[in-house]
Amino acid sequence: MTNDDERSRVEKAAVRALLVFVLLLLQQANARAQVQLIANAGGRASVSLAGKWQTIIDPYENGYYDYRYQPSPDGYFKNARPQGKSDLVEYDFDKSAQLSVPGDWNTQDARLLFYEGTVWYKKSFDYRRKPGTRLFVHFGAANYAADVYLNGEKVGRHEGGFTPFDFEVTNLVKEADNFLVVKVDNKRRRDAVPTLNTDWWNYGGLTREVTLVELPETFIQDYFVQLRKGSTREVSGWVRLAGKKPRQRVAVKIPEAKAERVVETDADGYAEFDFPADLTLWSPENPKLYDVTVAAETDSVSERIGFRSIEVRGTDILLNGKPVFLRGVSVHEEAPLRGGRAYGADDARTLLGWAKEMGCNFVRLAHYPHNEQMLREADRLGLMVWSEVPVYWTILWENPETFENARRQLTEMITRDRNRASVVLWSVANETPLGDARLRFLTALVKQARGLDPTRLVTAAMERHYAGERAQMIDDPLGAELDVLGCNEYLGWYDGPPEKADRMEWRTVYKKPLVMSEFGGGALQGHHGDPLTRWTEEYQESVYRHQIAMLKRIPFLRGTSPWILTDFRSPRRPLPGIQDFYNRKGLISDRGEKKKAFYVMQGYYRELSKGF
Ligand code: GCU
Repeated sequence: MTNDDERSRVEKAAVRALLVFVLLLLQQANARAQVQLIANAGGRASVSLAGKWQTIIDPYENGYYDYRYQPSPDGYFKNARPQGKSDLVEYDFDKSAQLSVPGDWNTQDARLLFYEGTVWYKKSFDYRRKPGTRLFVHFGAANYAADVYLNGEKVGRHEGGFTPFDFEVTNLVKEADNFLVVKVDNKRRRDAVPTLNTDWWNYGGLTREVTLVELPETFIQDYFVQLRKGSTREVSGWVRLAGKKPRQRVAVKIPEAKAERVVETDADGYAEFDFPADLTLWSPENPKLYDVTVAAETDSVSERIGFRSIEVRGTDILLNGKPVFLRGVSVHEEAPLRGGRAYGADDARTLLGWAKEMGCNFVRLAHYPHNEQMLREADRLGLMVWSEVPVYWTILWENPETFENARRQLTEMITRDRNRASVVLWSVANETPLGDARLRFLTALVKQARGLDPTRLVTAAMERHYAGERAQMIDDPLGAELDVLGCNEYLGWYDGPPEKADRMEWRTVYKKPLVMSEFGGGALQGHHGDPLTRWTEEYQESVYRHQIAMLKRIPFLRGTSPWILTDFRSPRRPLPGIQDFYNRKGLISDRGEKKKAFYVMQGYYRELSKGF
């Protein structure tokens, strides 16, 4: 390598670092107004576009690029039809296969189980918009990248498979024969979030609800109504209006608590409020929710909200001022029994019902924001939640676009769920390798989360290392930025036999609470044998028995979320007759059958619930 090469390599690295630094500065500057997401879209006047959509499978993106691989002005988004018998149109949505929305494509069509690429979706509809209103198309999520068109016009693009987005279509919608076309591409990319390598199925498609949301010209864009940090009697928050009439009187009401506050929004349509309220606090034992209304002069929105405080004090986690142990389980957003991406309240009730049956008061929703129904059911059922963005394993830490992508997904997650009492922890990462660029990246995400929501705790699932033969050490520098330490360990599965846990002591350099965010082992349900035989229920049971004995010896442990509630699909798990592309670490099989280890955890949680 010549001096010139060396010099240009250093220069390039310096420019990249400078770019990341500038982005971080910018991020601080405008944490408040990040994404123009309509808060509580489900609580607004809306029309669902659920049902069968016409689709075209397009592995070569022929509907987007011309033969010179340039974006074509006549792509499939035009929904073209031959006008005359000589016209050449080589696609026809209305004669094409259909897929259900919401739903992933992988489990609806056997040809698409392993498919990664583009599928075009088309939905025709009529719509009579009331005069003076605005219309938005809202997506609960689309995995991974969605290009959205209405009546042949591009309305927007969104990246990230697990967070909501909406686009305004007021000036494009017609009374009849509208066609909404969405190009959904779930191809994995190195610079994406998540990146190429994950241990979950890359379900593609319009995986969550799609609705048309009609709003007044000036509407309530977003609001935050929770207890002020550290208080149990002071409601604190803000409201933001969008539209031509930003200055309005806005009332925030909690009728059942006879509490109300009226504020005036400023020229940006923004106002903050603080007011006393005598509230029954939300807790797993008593998941009390209140009807809360935010009423402006031109718009009003209501929802059920719980009020609770969550803090740390030394190595304790305090819920409503009292120490609490998070008795949890990790959960993937996979539909119980039916398989595929979960999306509805029924799926949530089944999954969270199993967690409750196990004695949980907490769930770790891994590794990405789950659908909104999951959070609202957790509110209702009284389950505290760890919610995470898919900054998973080896993200491209030095790439500014990757950072921007992660920051936006974090912002969309918090914007959607910041009024959920169940959410107590925002997680910014899972099992990410140590390094300066990674630390800068994640520290910035932690700051972003705190900037958007000062009321909740921030964590990440970190890794441990050996400190001598008999000790596990948690001293990841990221820990200094977090409120709660998360740690994944697989003693007894990836690391030694189950009894290895017996001689392990745990240490950390931090005086902070620890949630053991992953531990466990695999078993094929119904496969039995001696406790040393892999894949038997007895081996898994033994892993859990030794784990629990070890966990009980960790003085700063304040929570556990074993990996994982149910077996789930993973392309990394091909072992025939055992895995068959399922990760078998579930405590319950993919057919809903409980394994022996489920009862071991249930026993431990029963003990803990008597007072830890
Ligand atoms: C990791 C990872 C999970 C994965 C699990 C496993 O810790 O966070 O996503 O599924 O291990 O190996 O089963």
